[in-house]
Amino acid sequence: MTFCCYYSSPASSHLLVTNFSQQSKSLKLPAQKRWLNESSRAFKVYAYHGLKTPPYKLDALEPYMSQKTLEVHWGAHHRNYVDGLNKQLEKNDMLYGCTLDELVKLTYNNGNPLPEFNNAAQVWNHDFFWESMQPGGGDMPVLGLLEQIEKDFGSFTNFRDKFTEAALSLFGSGWRNEKRLQITKSSNAVTPLVLDDIPIISLDMWEHAYYLDYKNDRGKYVDVFMNHLVSWNMAMARMARAMAFVNLGQPQVPIA
Ligand SMILES: [Fe+2]
Repeated sequence: MTFCCYYSSPASSHLLVTNFSQQSKSLKLPAQKRWLNESSRAFKVYAYHGLKTPPYKLDALEPYMSQKTLEVHWGAHHRNYVDGLNKQLEKNDMLYGCTLDELVKLTYNNGNPLPEFNNAAQVWNHDFFWESMQPGGGDMPVLGLLEQIEKDFGSFTNFRDKFTEAALSLFGSGWRNEKRLQITKSSNAVTPLVLDDIPIISLDMWEHAYYLDYKNDRGKYVDVFMNHLVSWNMAMARMARAMAFVNLGQPQVPIA
């Protein structure tokens, strides 16, 4: 996925580009979770996470993203991540009672992801991605968001170029971490959430997101996203929320 993130250390933003895969290591639970683990053994109750629906009908993004793509991407891929996560949670009552956000952060395990992390992060990222689009989206942001983009990227055109460049070079490796405007990449299942960054918009660059509509023309897919799909309304709301947080510090971006 390609993310545009905001963090509130002196009024700067950065782009975060991630490519998700899976790793596994052991988990060190905080004291609260150890207590939950012990108490939940007494009565075996599983926590399940549901498949959240996109905030529009599956044909609402036509002709830019087809109903067929949504049926496959949301109805099959996203569903598989949810089902896979729930199956894993049946076997791991240590993770009982976590919200999805908590699950993503906890199973990230300080950069040593547990088996559950990939599914949890993919569920989170897909929820976020659906909400990053809207029918009649695209064009340009306005007001505070536009001002912030112009401040951090020089111009909206430059922001768009950088975002496109990041999306199209997603399958590279390594992270770049610059103090102000950044494009970062990861080959692991890292979400902005686990880095204490606040994502503003995201674009899924997995093949299943665009192949049915655009075959291998990833550039056209990114253009269409920018011209017709991206929800600047949602981005504005997320930006306002992000700006309400203070003192988050510099983003903790791991070096690949
Ligand atoms: Fe996807």
